[in-house]
Amino acid sequence: MKRKRTRAAAAGILAAAALLPLGGCAKEEPEASGKNYIGVAYYNQSDTFLNELLDSFRSQLKDMQGGDMETVVMVRDAAGSQRTQDDQVKELISAGCDILCVNLVDRADPSEIIDLARENEVPIIFFNREPVAEDLMQWDGLYYVGAEAEQSGYMQGELAADLIETDSQVDRNRDGKIQYVVLEGEVGHQDAIIRTETVVEALTDRGIELEKLSYQIANWNRAQAENRMEQLIGQYGSQIELVLANNDDMALGALDAYKNMNYTEAAYPVVFGIDGTKAGLEAVMDSEIAGTVYNDKEGQAGAMARIALALLRGEGLEDVEFQSERCVYLPYEKVTKGNVSEYLMRSR
Ligand code: GAL
Ligand code: CA
Repeated sequence: MKRKRTRAAAAGILAAAALLPLGGCAKEEPEASGKNYIGVAYYNQSDTFLNELLDSFRSQLKDMQGGDMETVVMVRDAAGSQRTQDDQVKELISAGCDILCVNLVDRADPSEIIDLARENEVPIIFFNREPVAEDLMQWDGLYYVGAEAEQSGYMQGELAADLIETDSQVDRNRDGKIQYVVLEGEVGHQDAIIRTETVVEALTDRGIELEKLSYQIANWNRAQAENRMEQLIGQYGSQIELVLANNDDMALGALDAYKNMNYTEAAYPVVFGIDGTKAGLEAVMDSEIAGTVYNDKEGQAGAMARIALALLRGEGLEDVEFQSERCVYLPYEKVTKGNVSEYLMRSR
């Protein structure tokens, strides 16, 4: 890989950068050369799924790199600001990162980051928040690792349909329809929009009659979901029979709301999530969440590590299974109480 700056220059910048407050990452700052630096920029450090994904990335990278190579991972949290992330990417490149893994804040706004990477010949592996295809086509040093949102929503709907068909208690008021609410992720996020659409599509395909009471946006966040759910319960009370949450943290937040409002367990509606985070899987195990859809963080982190190492070594990219050009999509899987223990073991 051709680089415009020398290692020495990078080390100098790194020494200076180490003096800046960088949100808890200072101890990761490299001082010596001979190592490979991987910069990771992600949209928000309060995101449970991404934190678990990044833990898996670090450990798989270590397992895969072998004795001949040493990598240092430098992580930056954009705290929800694209401008902050643009600056962080600039800083990571100046610090001598050889590869970047970027989880965009605004998936529609990667142009500054792409320009910087291309000028400096630092490849980017985008992950989880998918840039639009035209942006990914801008340069052949751009990759994407994620999953197909359609699949996760559809599977969530199938899980809900399985339960509704077998358990007549779900339709509490016995009117032949399922009254439901949706807890949505972020506005403009492909996973939120598409999951909300396809979950309903799957239920409708199975001939289940639905009545949407309302929806709330809770930004993937447990505390926000709890708050929004309290509002929904205040408005609709025991009319709510089904809660479809775009992710596990929001499903758990919905349950927190019922607990806080002193509902008895028998009065809870059925709740479904997506992700299979540690807490989500445990809630499935404890029968608090009726089911979730596994967002394969180990598979995604593994693909990121494999691409990063292949780019660093200058070989092995042909072993990566790209579905479309430079993109890897890992399949989702349905999780219920019947198979949850398998997934609890998998997430390490
Ligand atoms: C989704 C995931 C959410 C959240 C979001 C962040 O794929 O299900 O929990 O992590 O990505 O972009
Ligand atoms: Ca009903």
